[in-house]
Amino acid sequence: MAGDRSQSSPGMGGPAPGGLDTSVPHIARVYDYWLGGKDNFAVDREAAEQVIEAYPGILRDVRAQRAFLTNAVSYLAGVAGIRQFLDIGTGIPTANNTHEVAQDVAPGSRVVYVDNDPMVLAHARALLVGVTAPTAYVDSDLRDTGKVLAEAARLLDFTKPVAVMLISVLHLIPDADDPHAIVTRLMEAVPSGSWLALSHPARDVHPQQVTEAASRFNQLAPAKATLRTRAEILRLFDGLELLEPGLVQVHQWRPGLAAPGHDQEAAGYCGLARKP
Ligand SMILES: C[S@@+](CC[C@H](N)C(=O)[O-])C[C@H]1O[C@@H](n2cnc3c(N)ncnc32)[C@H](O)[C@@H]1O
Repeated sequence: MAGDRSQSSPGMGGPAPGGLDTSVPHIARVYDYWLGGKDNFAVDREAAEQVIEAYPGILRDVRAQRAFLTNAVSYLAGVAGIRQFLDIGTGIPTANNTHEVAQDVAPGSRVVYVDNDPMVLAHARALLVGVTAPTAYVDSDLRDTGKVLAEAARLLDFTKPVAVMLISVLHLIPDADDPHAIVTRLMEAVPSGSWLALSHPARDVHPQQVTEAASRFNQLAPAKATLRTRAEILRLFDGLELLEPGLVQVHQWRPGLAAPGHDQEAAGYCGLARKP
């Protein structure tokens, strides 16, 4: 599928019917490339390679982040008994998507995906054909929390606990759009006993390399990335109870285990927290 697109699209550029713009890199497709996927175009590969050149650790970091997603969903569906998931900034499907992990542990778990990328939407439609477990897709910008919540409420029961998942998406929300307020609005909409799973690229690990990498990406991509420090990311968990090991680098997260010391590996933080 990607091969066909790759041959017909590069160089033609511009928005295609359905809103797919192959003239500029899109983070969902760049991320797909880093993960070894084939759903990307020449512009995406160029941006992805620019980042790799500045910060080669990105390839390890995105895999560690996916491992966090899998581990967090397993914990939520297994130990925490969560049966409803709102996964915002879904990305192009890869191995161990949220509904697969959750429904493997707890069949019947309800999963709503939210993304604003037309390619993600196309894949989600294809992926969900034939899925009998309750899974839905919402085409929305995360900043429009009213729409996200209203659409998600068609499948999720907001009187019961929900796991809100913001895995590697809030760095695409600039400070001007107040990511803290977005998280607050989402977590206010869910009851006590709900959870927030969040990961976010760091500005304070390998600072020179990641700053250069983000600057290269931002010169090419219309949706800019904002890297943040651990303290800035920790603020996003205000009012919530972080599960051990707390907010740690993405390769260090193991549910319930004590936090290892900070090291010079992954330039990204993650945490899983419960709403009291
Ligand atoms: C880096 S990918 C992460 C994908 C997935 N969460 C994962 O960890 O594998 C970021 C995703 O967020 C989506 N995204 C970016 N900005 C968004 C926004 N404002 N609203 C909704 N989705 C957004 C992108 O289209 C992309 O699919």
